[in-house]
Amino acid sequence: MEEKVKVFYELYERRRSVREFEDRFIEPEKLSRLLMTLNRAQSAANRQPWHFIVVENKDRAELNAALTKEGFRKAPVIIAGCADPAQAWIRKADRRNYSWVDVTIALTEMIGAATAEGLGTCWIASLDPAQVKKILGVPDQIDLVGLVAIGYPRDGLKKEKKERKPLVEVIHYGKW
Ligand SMILES: Cc1cc2nc3c(=O)[nH]c(=O)nc-3n(C[C@H](O)[C@H](O)[C@H](O)COP(=O)(O)O)c2cc1C
Repeated sequence: MEEKVKVFYELYERRRSVREFEDRFIEPEKLSRLLMTLNRAQSAANRQPWHFIVVENKDRAELNAALTKEGFRKAPVIIAGCADPAQAWIRKADRRNYSWVDVTIALTEMIGAATAEGLGTCWIASLDPAQVKKILGVPDQIDLVGLVAIGYPRDGLKKEKKERKPLVEVIHYGKW
């Protein structure tokens, strides 16, 4: 396998959810590279129906209080992914609004970049969206898709990997 291809697969192999962070800030140049990946992401019809709120630890008293896991409160940065359904592409056949998909793709791109930068991340969906929207001043018509905590993992990127369903259970060829 070509070296750059190997690097790509190793990166995805290394990523896992990190819930304990070192008390260490993220270098501003690293953070700006991550933010660029958010806005570089693909989106349906290139609508980019997204907004992201970067919340550093020093500004997080209220948000931290709304988080259930102590470990997340130590993350130097939490990014809130917000979807604007009014800006999104809507599929004609079933009126499906793709804003959440687009925001999720952007956050996932950023998570890949963060892993490459030696950072750990964790999605946080287990929260009260109304409460968190209020804390972050998110307008009513905008959805809070989720938060992603980012920081240096306290124990490095631990080796053990969460089990996945066997490939044969989830991959279908030709037909379901
Ligand atoms: C959409 C989404 C929401 C999640 N919400 C939470 C959460 O609220 N709290 C948490 O501790 N982990 C959360 N996770 C992390 C998952 O539990 C984790 O990705 C899964 O167990 C697989 O482990 P891995 O990421 O280490 O491979 C979330 C992940 C995703 C993709």
